[in-house]
Amino acid sequence: MLKQLLLQSLRINAAEKTTATASNLLGGTAPIDKLRSQIAQFAASPFPVLVHGESGTGKELVARSLHEKSSRASHTLYALNCAAISPTLVEPTLFGYAKGAFTGAVASRAGYFEDAHDSTLFLDEIGELPLDLQAKLLRVMENGEFQGVGETQSRSSNARVVAATNRDLKQEIRAGRFRADLYHRLSVFTIDVPALRELGEDRIVLLDHFREFYARQAGTQPFTLGREAHAMWLAYPFPGNVRELRNIVIRLSTKCAGLEVNEEQLRAELDGDTDTIAPAVGGTLAADEDTIIDAARKQLQTARGFNLDETLARWERGYVEAALDLTQGNLARAAKLLGVNRTTLYSRMQNYAVNTPEK
Ligand SMILES: Nc1ncnc2c1ncn2[C@@H]1O[C@H](COP(=O)(O)OP(=O)(O)OP(=O)(O)O)[C@@H](O)[C@H]1O
Ligand SMILES: [Mg+2]
Repeated sequence: MLKQLLLQSLRINAAEKTTATASNLLGGTAPIDKLRSQIAQFAASPFPVLVHGESGTGKELVARSLHEKSSRASHTLYALNCAAISPTLVEPTLFGYAKGAFTGAVASRAGYFEDAHDSTLFLDEIGELPLDLQAKLLRVMENGEFQGVGETQSRSSNARVVAATNRDLKQEIRAGRFRADLYHRLSVFTIDVPALRELGEDRIVLLDHFREFYARQAGTQPFTLGREAHAMWLAYPFPGNVRELRNIVIRLSTKCAGLEVNEEQLRAELDGDTDTIAPAVGGTLAADEDTIIDAARKQLQTARGFNLDETLARWERGYVEAALDLTQGNLARAAKLLGVNRTTLYSRMQNYAVNTPEK
């Protein structure tokens, strides 16, 4: 029953089936030009593409562009975020299941591999896929054949796989967490999406685009940046990449519509942003020490009135809220995700007065 409920909610939440709209990859610097030409080169091929880049750099946008520029564009793109759903659900979602395969499987259902026949299957956060599922994925990548859960007959798929990750998969292979053979299957083509800090003037192109866009949406005038604020914008490393830039623009568009933003007002938006450090370490506790130190250094360089206890408390709360969000408020699963026991999670939630979503 639980599995059935989860499968239903999964359709709405974690896994996405969308008709893609025109993806607009902005920027005119050399790394973005290279990205565009790689997309154009690889789009027509039926072979897999592995998209790698820090959080918020635009990996999903790249995956959608690959689909839109391919001959498969008229078909629906299927996307599954491997980190956002319980591992037990990945298998039936990708491969389908037979009637009666588990409690609640009242009818058989095709999985995304079959649904995405002649289309593109985007496997986001592929680095989070558990090893046993990596073995199953390898099999379908080898010959296009697979079996649904509880099925005896093989099905086949012609789906073009695009996978994305912010992890260093070679390091994951060395650590025994990712299969080398699957890595080689997935990475026939690889695309490295550049970090925003490598994109120089594109930070202004993106600023201009988003502030016009959000002002138009709100029916207001766009804000402008004063001279010092402009220099601060160009010096800021944007550890959360384009997503962080866009969020800052959304906040400024709301607070300072039609006004000139000064250095202090801009600093207030760059300061204490919970997004600023998490994405830089891949949003994962598994980040290595050097990555964490690097991200912390960047944050300390730009933050005023930094407070370690407050920052750590915000992080802790962020993880708790994310786990509750991912598990639709299921305390037991959230505790498991966080690697703490249920009572510990509960007492933290009482401390934060985190709202538990209604079940
Ligand atoms: N070059 C770009 N031009 C325009 N918009 C961009 C660009 N790069 C990223 N974006 C926008 O930034 C946001 C984040 O991009 P996206 O979700 O593709 O990042 P991601 O790499 O998949 O992040 P994560 O690793 O956190 O999943 C999206 O709104 C996307 O449209
Ligand atoms: Mg993404």
